[in-house]
Amino acid sequence: MTKENETKNTLTLELLGCPSVSDAELARIEEIHEGLTSGDEAFTGWVGLPYKGESEETARLKAAAARIGSQCGVLAVVGIGGSYLGARAALEMCGAGGAAPGGAAPGGAEILFAGQNISGTYHAELIDRLKDEDFCVCVISKSGTTTEPNIAFAILKDLLIKRHGRAEAAKRVYAITDPEGGTLRAETEAEGYESFVIPPDVGGRYSVLSPVGLLPMAAAGIDVDAVLAGARRAAADDLRGLAARLAATRKALADGGKTVEIFEHYEPALFSFAEWLKQLYGESEGKEGKGLFPAALSFSTDLHSMGQFLQEGNQIFFETLLDVKAPPRDVLVPAGADPLLAGKSMNEINRAAAEGVIAAHRAAGIPIARVGVPDLSPHSFGALAYFFELTCAYTARLMGVDPFNQPGVEQYKREMKRLLTNN
Ligand code: PA5
Repeated sequence: MTKENETKNTLTLELLGCPSVSDAELARIEEIHEGLTSGDEAFTGWVGLPYKGESEETARLKAAAARIGSQCGVLAVVGIGGSYLGARAALEMCGAGGAAPGGAAPGGAEILFAGQNISGTYHAELIDRLKDEDFCVCVISKSGTTTEPNIAFAILKDLLIKRHGRAEAAKRVYAITDPEGGTLRAETEAEGYESFVIPPDVGGRYSVLSPVGLLPMAAAGIDVDAVLAGARRAAADDLRGLAARLAATRKALADGGKTVEIFEHYEPALFSFAEWLKQLYGESEGKEGKGLFPAALSFSTDLHSMGQFLQEGNQIFFETLLDVKAPPRDVLVPAGADPLLAGKSMNEINRAAAEGVIAAHRAAGIPIARVGVPDLSPHSFGALAYFFELTCAYTARLMGVDPFNQPGVEQYKREMKRLLTNN
């Protein structure tokens, strides 16, 4: 076991039962990092996003968030994949402590998501929900032509226009899109929507610290300065060192036949963060027959469905535990519960579950990377997001694949278009 970085209020890393990594491998990651920060490599704009906090664009973004708050109580955020998951992850982690996923931090607009599926039922219910609400729309799409957000934006725009007329409706639309190309940029210019830019050198899955993630966060009342400060903290040498160690360990585990990485946690507020991780890692590493298959489990819930497999099933996996040290709230178990539980706090019992699982899984020989997360604050969100972005880019480069392309994503879209065209 190596145990590093015990400092309070920062990310920590413990590697339990994991293969050791060589100094040569870590030196290779230093070279990879130099490449990522050189400015010479394509799609590495995300590396500098934590430092954009003082920019004119961030100031305008905060002003837009304040205006959304004064215009309407509900903001419908339209997007999918990299234009959706990061904002949702942040809102759940930093919002109402997970009790109301997708909800607002105190003082912010209520956020509803649209365009992240093609379900008529989901969107019919959304339309019902918005019937009596004064709402705004934040549409996020680099291209503007992605099927799901394209449909949802058209629906919500129709509702706004019917209610307010075209000119007033346009004042309630906020667009985040490519600076020049794409159908959404063209519409934005034509209709006069307030707009923000998805930087051309930042891919969707690395865009959470750009306006793609920051505008919904700010509108929900999340302190985006704290998010960016957390990300800068993760860029400091000590935490970057942990990201490098985790990256080298993941590569060693993959080489040793562990082909599945299970991201797991004990806080429902991290559910969407794990979804965000699945996209980040799946799209970055899964190509040329390589990559770890990213899975996610939410404990203790999933212990009651997947616990058996983990303990005694096909050992093709290792676990990356997101271990929240100080959850924001707690409840004391009343006397009516099992005497073993009564009088204890739920966090204390949740901690016993986590430590018990680690002991049992270690006994079964399962490698565990335990990432300590101080709390569910915006600072921790920023640190965690940037930490895993770095770790992901490092491992993909070690595996010899391009972390920033996704050549395989287009194939099913072509097939789907063919079917729609023929019908
Ligand atoms: O990471 C990606 O590239 C994808 O998840 C895209 O972000 C997603 O398909 C949405 O694309 P767009 O922003 O063009 O609507």
